[in-house]
Amino acid sequence: TGVFTYDPGFSSTCSTKSAITYIDGDQGILLYRGYPVAQLAEHCSFLEVAYLILNGELPKGQELQNFDSSIRKHTMINENLNRFFEGFNYDAHPMAMLTGVVGSLSAFYHDTTNNKDPRHREIFAHRMIAKIPTIAAAAYKKYYGQPFMYPQNHLDYCSNLLHMMFAVPAEPYHVNPIAAKALDILFTLHADHEQNASTSTVRMAGSTGTNPYAAIAAGIAALWGPSHGGANEAVLTMLDEIGDVKNVQGFMDKVKDKNSGVRLMGFGHRVYKNFDPRATIIREQCHKVLQALKVDDPKLELAMKLEEIALSDDYFKARKLYPNVDFYSGIIYKALGIPVNMFTPMFAVARTVGWVAHWIEMVSDPAMRIARPRQVYTGAAERTVSPIAQR
Ligand code: CMC
Repeated sequence: TGVFTYDPGFSSTCSTKSAITYIDGDQGILLYRGYPVAQLAEHCSFLEVAYLILNGELPKGQELQNFDSSIRKHTMINENLNRFFEGFNYDAHPMAMLTGVVGSLSAFYHDTTNNKDPRHREIFAHRMIAKIPTIAAAAYKKYYGQPFMYPQNHLDYCSNLLHMMFAVPAEPYHVNPIAAKALDILFTLHADHEQNASTSTVRMAGSTGTNPYAAIAAGIAALWGPSHGGANEAVLTMLDEIGDVKNVQGFMDKVKDKNSGVRLMGFGHRVYKNFDPRATIIREQCHKVLQALKVDDPKLELAMKLEEIALSDDYFKARKLYPNVDFYSGIIYKALGIPVNMFTPMFAVARTVGWVAHWIEMVSDPAMRIARPRQVYTGAAERTVSPIAQR
């Protein structure tokens, strides 16, 4: 009983109160715990931002040191978990492996799952944030048939991830500090985004009281789709298909034809109707990183041309469609040597911080209730079953 509102896609439903991230979609504002994301990307490391998102305040020196060393302590995964990868086919998508293996963490780390105990919640948070790069890198190694590389805890968070992905036992590997810094900034920009589909999924699964690692696995599954985190991979596939600047106009005509089913990937956002502040920073970073790494990628020129044409087109203007965070991020990832099918796992590593913070915020709230939406029933009215012989 009661009055229900039909709201497909939850465009106007606030599912929760939250003190973590603020977005003003009309003004293009994104704040983590009150701080503009551009300032955080400029002045803070990803781990500082992770601490902020989890704890509400930027860390002081000792607080950051303690947090950092706790994350480093938890980077390894159980050896049995490493062996899970042997069971996957060589061509399994890394997101498929990530979903499965993160879900399996719940089978290994079930000693600290009293959601009401703040110490348990903290250990879960540190384990999850520390282990997700190790799992993502292992998925990469599986795909390429190379041996897994153990984490090197003298390395910072992003350097360690690059090491686990690109080092091989046969020769020394030195992480390029420009690549590590670029990754760090990208991770800050992806760390949280209030009630997006994957975070809402983590909250929904978590609201039942399930094991938190299982709730994160649900979030990873939701992130995979091309309307969400999978868009960064889809943008590069789209740029490959377009191939050349001379084909841009023809592609745009297809996008505007509603019967084609083709969308301009990396464009549009449910909340941002002016610009996505993350896209502005990423576009700038994209130029800087390509220049610093001396990479000349014709895809950047192609992306810029697409953006220019789209921004001056009435179709996009009328619908307030602007480049989002995923439009340029793939070009940076590519310049760092990260293959296209690893783009979404990279997003997952960064967003783990947000998922964990939202899960903690939810389970710490005494008013937490199971998430249970209603529906508008459109099926048959009540009728009588006839035995099979009479049908
Ligand atoms: N290309 C062409 N048309 C579009 C696009 C696009 N990328 N995005 C929206 N539209 C059109 C859509 O066809 C509709 O037109 P009409 O009113 O004539 O039917 C109108 O704009 C409103 O679109 P919507 O699908 O109702 O908007 P939504 O808020 O449900 O979807 C979105 C948001 C992000 C899923 C969508 O813009 C999209 O599919 N974008 C491409 C995929 C993408 O880049 N996703 C990444 C989002 S940001 C990072 C993240 O969340 O992970």
